[in-house]
Amino acid sequence: MKRTAWPASLALTLLATLAAAPAPEVSGPELARRLGCWACHSLPGQGEQKGSSLDNIGARLSPEDLQAILTHPRSRLPQAKMPSYAHLRPWEMRALVDYLLGLKR
Ligand code: HEC
Repeated sequence: MKRTAWPASLALTLLATLAAAPAPEVSGPELARRLGCWACHSLPGQGEQKGSSLDNIGARLSPEDLQAILTHPRSRLPQAKMPSYAHLRPWEMRALVDYLLGLKR
């Protein structure tokens, strides 16, 4: 029986498509909601008011600081019971940091 080659070529086409795909559009506010930031933090009118406020965080921390805190919270805040978000895709991290930087009064 002749074996057809299409499954292999189909897989290659799929891989090529995935590799060429641009980073998906992600929204910072949507990420923050999905990742559960508001279980511990607040903004005026958002999140647990007992949590620490991220109001004006964009004016207080640099992009580098924000990324360091999100990746390894304990590196900057040894006592903080905050989960690491090191698993985020690079574009998700960018979208989240951009969003936080925009939180300025
Ligand atoms: C389980 C609780 C928890 C979750 C979930 C959490 N954090 Fe935190 N976060 C903390 C704690 C605790 C601190 C350290 C002290 C503080 O600011 O309250 C902190 C600190 C921070 C700081 C530094 C604040 C400052 O004033 O210097 C930032 C920025 C931050 N978190 C952002 C986030 C973002 C964005 C998310 C979601 C992706 C998130 N956190 C999720 C608990 C949490």
